[in-house]
Amino acid sequence: MKKEEDSREKSLQALTAIFQRGDFGLAITEAKKVIKDHQSATAVNILALAHKRLGEIDRSVEIYENLLINNPSNTMFLANLGNIYSDQGRLTEAQELFEKVLSVDANHINAYLGLGNVYVMQAKNDLALRLYEKMQSEVRDIPAEQLQKINYRVAEIYRKGGEEHFDAAIKHYGLSNQRLSMSHRLECIYRSKNKAVYEKEAAALSELGHIDPLIAAVQTHASIRYGFQDRNAFCTDSFRFISHSKLSASEGFDRGLTDRLLTLAHELESSPQALINKGGQSAGNLFLLNDPAISKIKAIIESRIAHYREKYQQFDAGLISKWPPQTTLHGWFIDLKKGGSLGSHMHKEGWLSGSLYLKLSKPEGASEGNIIFDLDGGNYPADDRDFPSKELDIEEGDIVLFPSSIFHKTVPFSATERRVTLAFDVKPDLLVRA
Ligand SMILES: [Fe+2]
Repeated sequence: MKKEEDSREKSLQALTAIFQRGDFGLAITEAKKVIKDHQSATAVNILALAHKRLGEIDRSVEIYENLLINNPSNTMFLANLGNIYSDQGRLTEAQELFEKVLSVDANHINAYLGLGNVYVMQAKNDLALRLYEKMQSEVRDIPAEQLQKINYRVAEIYRKGGEEHFDAAIKHYGLSNQRLSMSHRLECIYRSKNKAVYEKEAAALSELGHIDPLIAAVQTHASIRYGFQDRNAFCTDSFRFISHSKLSASEGFDRGLTDRLLTLAHELESSPQALINKGGQSAGNLFLLNDPAISKIKAIIESRIAHYREKYQQFDAGLISKWPPQTTLHGWFIDLKKGGSLGSHMHKEGWLSGSLYLKLSKPEGASEGNIIFDLDGGNYPADDRDFPSKELDIEEGDIVLFPSSIFHKTVPFSATERRVTLAFDVKPDLLVRA
């Protein structure tokens, strides 16, 4: 018996090591052998996670759903499936699973984090804040890494609560070490403190070699407002990096594909989006959906991104030279109704962003439904300075790629038909340092 346990333990260790080094294909093969030899639930979990990491989400969901038939109260399976549902935008189902985990194990940190995440995606920020407070008072011995994650989420909620909560936000960002902690901290300082305090904090952050779209947006804004040279490491003179062109049938962008994408845009569960007036945004990452149209449009976008990187190769900008080693393409639909518009924003979690126009009807020569890029935004204090802006004349079938640091919004339109955009971000997977 002891021999069998040793062999099982060894097999699981080897399998975990394969998964952790990122060889997901081999992890699937090996997991199946371990499951056959030892009937291990841990191996089945690794099998499901490996499918998830390879983008085979449906397979992963199927494995968890099957596992839960015989193990309906297994907290690991419930929480992992909850995370997948959450990623897919199936928020109600995700919430039910996380609540079930917490009813079985009131100290389950990942379920708290998952449920808080669902609340935030549902714009229930007060509920999320109370949940994180409850977690910190009731769960003992929370690991430092998890505490930092919680502090970041709490800081986010305070920041979104408005300027009177910025001191609390600055404090909680300072207690966290997530990718955007320091940039958001600087942003809150820029919005609420004086020039001298901002300059000191910005210089300290530059010393660390920090680079991301958010700090770039803040630094560019401050350089115009205070009249000094923009030295942000991401990209200066950022309008040069906006690339606008048309998609063609020869690259696979045809009527059939557009129609299928429009149907999907209509069917997906939407997530509240404060910036959208008269319309909705699909929840989760649409590139996780298993549909031939999604795979096809993903390949087209990936090819355009590769071309973009080539086109700007000679430009001196961290955007190109410090392109993150590992990235994920994240996409969502924005479906606007008559008179709808999308307010000014930038994509802080992105690196390179884009929009692809699936449906847009407008009178000849009108600016309705166009996209406007602007170096002013985010409710940053502008002190009556003039900030450059640039409007692109958009037509159906256009694709626009731009640095995620630039603020942008749409011009409201009056057509009775919907205006449907597929928006996307190339997101860095790992912490990016200069
Ligand atoms: Fe956007």
